[in-house]
Amino acid sequence: MQLGRQILSRHTRSQRTMKLQVGLLIASVTWAAASPFRETRNKLLLVSFDGFRWDYDQDVDTPHMDRLVKDGVKAKYITPPMLTMTSPSHFTTITGRWVEDHEVVHNMMFNTQTNEKVPHKKTLTRSEWWDNGPLPLWITAQNQGLKTASFFYPGGGANYSGQAVNRVLVEKAGHPDDNETEWRQKIDTVMSWFSQEDFDLVTLYYGEPDNVGHTRGPDHPDRKKIVRQIDRTIGYLTEAISRHGMNDSLNVIITSDHGMTTVKKRPLVDEIILNKYVNLLKVASFEILDYGGFGILTPRPGKEQEVFEALSKAPNLTVYRKDDMPESFHLARSRRLPPIVIVADLGFNLNSRFIVYVNKGDHGYHNGEMDMKMIFRAFGPDFKKNFLSEPFDSIHIYPLMCRLLNIQPAPHNGSLKVTQDMLLHSGGPQSVTVSLVTAIFIFMLLLTP
Ligand SMILES: *[C@@H]1O[C@H](CO)[C@@H](O)[C@H](O)[C@H]1NC(C)=O
Ligand SMILES: *[C@@H]1O[C@H](CO)[C@@H](O)[C@H](O)[C@H]1NC(C)=O
Ligand SMILES: *[C@@H]1O[C@H](CO)[C@@H](O)[C@H](O)[C@H]1NC(C)=O
Ligand SMILES: *[C@@H]1O[C@H](CO)[C@@H](O)[C@H](O)[C@H]1NC(C)=O
Ligand SMILES: *[C@@H]1O[C@H](CO)[C@@H](O)[C@H](O)[C@H]1NC(C)=O
Ligand SMILES: [Zn+2]
Repeated sequence: MQLGRQILSRHTRSQRTMKLQVGLLIASVTWAAASPFRETRNKLLLVSFDGFRWDYDQDVDTPHMDRLVKDGVKAKYITPPMLTMTSPSHFTTITGRWVEDHEVVHNMMFNTQTNEKVPHKKTLTRSEWWDNGPLPLWITAQNQGLKTASFFYPGGGANYSGQAVNRVLVEKAGHPDDNETEWRQKIDTVMSWFSQEDFDLVTLYYGEPDNVGHTRGPDHPDRKKIVRQIDRTIGYLTEAISRHGMNDSLNVIITSDHGMTTVKKRPLVDEIILNKYVNLLKVASFEILDYGGFGILTPRPGKEQEVFEALSKAPNLTVYRKDDMPESFHLARSRRLPPIVIVADLGFNLNSRFIVYVNKGDHGYHNGEMDMKMIFRAFGPDFKKNFLSEPFDSIHIYPLMCRLLNIQPAPHNGSLKVTQDMLLHSGGPQSVTVSLVTAIFIFMLLLTP
């Protein structure tokens, strides 16, 4: 009996030890498999090349961008929000909010009461244009202890609820868009912010290929030339990341704000002069109509129906009542947008009274048009390699960025589900907690005799 009990108890003890070992093993395997936990979060660089249409790299030799396809993630294309314009679209990317919510409804700042119109570059430090409630990523990240910077990115120069972005450089009017030396200096500066000053998030903006797209047109050889310059710059960026030893600690997203289409293929024919259809002086109290494919107008009191009916008969454009726009535009709830919105057919150009317009290419058209689609590339330690993503709306970049930075997003209209497959570990900060709890639970379970 005595002997028997001893044997039994020894047996139980060794069984317990084994259980403990197995428990520890399972717990740590569970932890390692389910946990994206990192001691230090990786940094994030968001680069925007203004007006980089989704297919601009397909008829140009772009060895560096081609290599990024193998080293990271490419989406076939992505779709900007409706109002395919620089400020509205960039601000949707950085807030994850539809234009009707963030209210940056044009490149120009305007006031329909006073008729004040402020050109794009001058709006960049006017907080009252940008600060309408929804917080951009910089501020949300800073509120959670991160350090952020904006190099020329639209919206970076404003204050939000009195709070400024930690480090800001704002592009001045007349700044040259295409100086390759300066492009590289911008990368050197950004890399020093990351490596020497420990910034967590930097947004970097380039004014090309938008500028060349407008002045020469997307079909001009100069557009190919500037895309080659962008490709060299991306090569310089990957070299710089390697040189700073940041291959394993910096994620990079390269994207844009809209595409570009050739306008006025047939001079005069593809021009729309709105005053031919409605007497603007008589019916409009406010208008921005000489701005490519997208026009806005405030009718004088009682004239709304007249304007709408007259413009409904005009060819090669679609006129909308603000309150009656397609749901997919996500513009109807905007308080800032005037009651009448005009969208020209692709390639047509809107004019109020005279043709003063000189551009060969433009945007502002319906975001369903393929020419308005833009690029998306991403690489770095948290991204899969050689991953081709289905097309998606740019609004979903926001939750992806929050996930990469391991921060709690502000209320937004995107969804991480759309983009999480491109990540190596698709769990979030919550799943760290969940896997920790699971690991402890399994461990305890196995400990109980
Ligand atoms: C932002 O706030 C700071 C501090 O109050 C102020 O100095 C700066 O001028 C503001 N900037 C803008 C763009 O409003
Ligand atoms: C380009 O930028 C560099 C560095 O900022 C400057 O030294 C050079 O003069 C610029 N070139 C032109 C053509 O503006
Ligand atoms: C960083 O990654 C690039 C490929 O993108 C590679 O060429 C380079 O050797 C890497 N650098 C280091 C230090 O591993
Ligand atoms: C523009 O409108 C005219 C008149 O309705 C029409 O004949 C023409 O086909 C339209 N052009 C395009 C490219 O849709
Ligand atoms: C976008 O998100 C905001 C904030 O959560 C919400 O109030 C709004 O209803 C959303 N818009 C749509 C169209 O779902
Ligand atoms: Zn733009």
